[in-house]
Amino acid sequence: MIVLGLETSCDETAAALVTDQRQVLADVVRSQLKDHAPFGGVVPEIAARRHIDHLDGLIRRALEEAGIGLDRVDAVAATAGPGLIGALMVGLMEGKAIAAVRGVPFIAVNHLEGHALSPRLIADVRFPYLLLLVSGGHCQLLIVEGVGRYRRLGTTIDDAAGEAFDKAAKLIGLGYPGGPAIERAAKKGDPKRFALPRPMKGRAGADFSFAGLKTAIAHLVASLSAPLDEQTVADLAASFQAAVADVLIDRTTNAIASYRLVVPEGGAIVVAGGVAANTLLRERLTALAAKSDLAMVAPPLRLCTDNAAMIAWAGAERLGLGLTNDFDFAPRPRWPLDPLAEPAPGSGRAGRLGRKA
Ligand code: KG4
Ligand code: ZN
Repeated sequence: MIVLGLETSCDETAAALVTDQRQVLADVVRSQLKDHAPFGGVVPEIAARRHIDHLDGLIRRALEEAGIGLDRVDAVAATAGPGLIGALMVGLMEGKAIAAVRGVPFIAVNHLEGHALSPRLIADVRFPYLLLLVSGGHCQLLIVEGVGRYRRLGTTIDDAAGEAFDKAAKLIGLGYPGGPAIERAAKKGDPKRFALPRPMKGRAGADFSFAGLKTAIAHLVASLSAPLDEQTVADLAASFQAAVADVLIDRTTNAIASYRLVVPEGGAIVVAGGVAANTLLRERLTALAAKSDLAMVAPPLRLCTDNAAMIAWAGAERLGLGLTNDFDFAPRPRWPLDPLAEPAPGSGRAGRLGRKA
């Protein structure tokens, strides 16, 4: 079975062809980083237009790479949410159109489910496993119980971890995206020079908060004499990175305790999302997993950041269970994986949480 996957939820346009036997026949991504860079963030209208400009070409390229025609595609999976509504519509409509013309099943995929199931595309990771999803748009800890079955243990009450990296980088004068820039600068820095807060550390549960850390960096930078010298930038980056890693490890430790109530021994922890590229985080998670009798699975970076292979794979998993969708499936700007999860305490939201949650 060959599944065509389409991803257009934010600022990456992507198409991929994946088989239900875990073969990635093609996986093409076009980042819109440069299109949005002049505005210092993703502009929804521009994102939608660039998806329209490039999606056809990317699908064609994916088919060429795989050396097949559309006639070989057995099902089409497209991201239906959560994300930017105009952006989502592009991939969803195109996916439906291709499925309709070809007369094959259509699967509306939750982008977060794409991330959540991605480790199963590269390894035989059995349910239930623990997932730390950390990117610019998401920050949560989940137990992945099965396809379509997720239990959220914690989420952010304000910023996502990647977003915190991006904001901190901006404050200390490093470029966008901030995560890689901070990691690079931190290599020559002293993580102990500046004492930054560790929001939520030591508290029960597995929720996150990064807004206070951003404020602390802003105050700290304001108190230092400008321009910042290279060593100070490195020390700020190292101190910030250490604070984020401490928080993520603390929250994950609590999540492991909850996971242990479900899986008393063995099991696995998976880390996904752009922040999973961070070496310090990977090292500390690897150590935590070893200490906790957990296998640690970090999908290759290409599969960690936004891509369509994970959407095609989630489609393949759903198809295998007979979970297909009708063409009236509407795009969903918000679409929590765990609909039963309570809003994060302190999020200030009585009802539904935002995209990051
Ligand atoms: O998953 P992703 O490509 O896109 C979404 O946000 O969905 O994640 C991008 C985020 C950015 O915020 C970026 O700063 C962060 O991941 N990031 C990193 C690193 N590489 C990317 N954060 C920390 N360390 C890194 N090496
Ligand atoms: Zn994502």
